[in-house]
Amino acid sequence: MMKKEYQDDIEKKINALKKKRQAVILAHNYQLPEVQDVADYRGDSLELSRIASKTDAEVIVFCGVHFMAETAAILSPEKLVVMPDVNSGCPMANMMTAKDLRKLKKEHPDAVSIGYVNTSAEVKAELDVCCTSTNAIAVVNAFKDRKEVIFIPDKYLADYVSKQTGRKLISWNGFCPTHIKILPEDIKREKEFHPKAKVMVHPECLPSVVAMADAVLSTSKMAQYAKESPDREFIIGTEVGLIYRLKSDNPQKEFYPATERAVCPNMKRTNQEKILWALEGLKDVVQVPESIRVAAKKAIDKMLEII
Ligand code: 13P
Ligand code: SF4
Repeated sequence: MMKKEYQDDIEKKINALKKKRQAVILAHNYQLPEVQDVADYRGDSLELSRIASKTDAEVIVFCGVHFMAETAAILSPEKLVVMPDVNSGCPMANMMTAKDLRKLKKEHPDAVSIGYVNTSAEVKAELDVCCTSTNAIAVVNAFKDRKEVIFIPDKYLADYVSKQTGRKLISWNGFCPTHIKILPEDIKREKEFHPKAKVMVHPECLPSVVAMADAVLSTSKMAQYAKESPDREFIIGTEVGLIYRLKSDNPQKEFYPATERAVCPNMKRTNQEKILWALEGLKDVVQVPESIRVAAKKAIDKMLEII
């Protein structure tokens, strides 16, 4: 079978099985093009959480990394959440354990604890409230009455939010190994090549990179900015997978990755074959023990209430 025919065949099978299982396919903006192409919804962490909490599908096939599928399982316990590749983890989420957070909270007993969704369910269960890169500033601003604020695990997101809110944050030594590959010299070089281009970067980037950006945004907010902006050229400081979404949404505009090195290997583990196998076998189910789920859900619900 030719490659195109093979792909069409898999896509047909995925679509038929999706109907039979009453499944919905959610894909993060960093997923491979072939995954984005069969997804019902593409989005950032916040959008995918909201969709997972509202869908009436029976099965959620989550194409992303583990904490994202876990968030869907926390919000929709009555649904079957399956991952096409359950070994897709987020190294940043693994940089802080629940024990680490409990210790930090003990050292700062009066602090409100705010955590990025890029954390395990056990860590979320210890938090007062979650945030994503879309709403981190609004979440911190919602606690103006609190003297101390714990903000974990990403030290670079904490730095950005601290500068934007003027609040001193108690942070953790976590970071994204993919985003720190984007260097100030990459932005400088791309700006020399494309002097008219606007620079958009993710707040997980190094502060020296964030300082060079025209806009600091979550992945879906970058998609929105690109659509609404009168500009025609953009330098993109985030994981390279977003470029496919940006180009497909705006075929008349140009998008240049700040560096091709910014690849999240875990986001690339999912492909169409694995989606088909997941729909066939419904094997790699993501589940969270009930006591942890209920506590973690409180922190996510609190975030969804704020914004
Ligand atoms: P977004 O919520 O902006 O999509 O970010 C998720 C993530 O893991 C970024 O590395
Ligand atoms: Fe985690 Fe970074 Fe990959 Fe996002 S890009 S999933 S933060 S490792």
